[in-house]
Amino acid sequence: MTAHDSTKRYDTLSQAFHWLTAAAVLAAFVLGPGGFGRMLRNGIDPGTQLDIVWHETLGIAVFGLTLLRLLWVLVRPRAPRHSMAGWMQLASKGAHVVLWGMLLALPMTALLTLGSEGAPLTLLGLRIDELTLIANSAFAPLADWGDVHTFIGDAIMWIAGLHAAASIYHHFVMKDNVLTSMVPRLKARAQ
Ligand code: HEM
Ligand code: HEM
Repeated sequence: MTAHDSTKRYDTLSQAFHWLTAAAVLAAFVLGPGGFGRMLRNGIDPGTQLDIVWHETLGIAVFGLTLLRLLWVLVRPRAPRHSMAGWMQLASKGAHVVLWGMLLALPMTALLTLGSEGAPLTLLGLRIDELTLIANSAFAPLADWGDVHTFIGDAIMWIAGLHAAASIYHHFVMKDNVLTSMVPRLKARAQ
């Protein structure tokens, strides 16, 4: 890869973070537990429900990946810049900022949900019965965190869907290198 090409692609680690995160978010969304409050009221232990255990494990993995990824963003080689109209540049930046915010807000609102409902955190290989610190925090009574979490969980799929559609539009209609910059081994176009 020439020095010129390398500025057109995200580095390998950024690409790995991106696709691992996208896969984990999609899987967590598919496994999103409906009727959680009802289940708790019926005395069912969420730790016995494999979909919930996987949902929480994937969601916490997304949290870990996002924190590591943000640290990497601070020190990584410069991200590629694509020449495009100002409004498009702004929309793309805006979508990224919103996606970063949602990636952080999802696990945070999830922990607030569990804390305020007195539910355990049930991960593969780890269980914490009482999230006392979160349950007693000033944030816990401020909202119905289950509703907020569900809203953001649905919204991230819409925003990520638009974001993915935009990158496909770039590739097939604008014929630029936006998509190739994030997809390993997808051949960059001569510009
Ligand atoms: C990428 C991250 C995540 C996404 C996309 C996501 C998405 C969702 C969605 C869409 C729902 C609603 C499901 C429905 O009503 O059918 C939901 C519910 C829920 N999620 Fe997540 N979630 C994520 C992370 C987490 C994490 C990290 C935890 C726990 C540590 C968690 C725990 C829960 C719980 C307890 C509910 C039930 C909320 C309620 O109804 O009160 N989620 N999630
Ligand atoms: C839940 C799913 C997704 C999330 C949360 C997400 C999030 C993000 C974020 C935060 C960035 C900035 C990356 C960085 O600076 O390292 C990014 C870039 C990018 N994403 Fe996604 N993404 C998702 C799915 C997808 C999908 C399905 C596609 C393609 C079909 C895609 C294509 C791209 C491209 C091409 C870039 C680079 C854009 C540019 O440089 O302007 N993403 N994504």
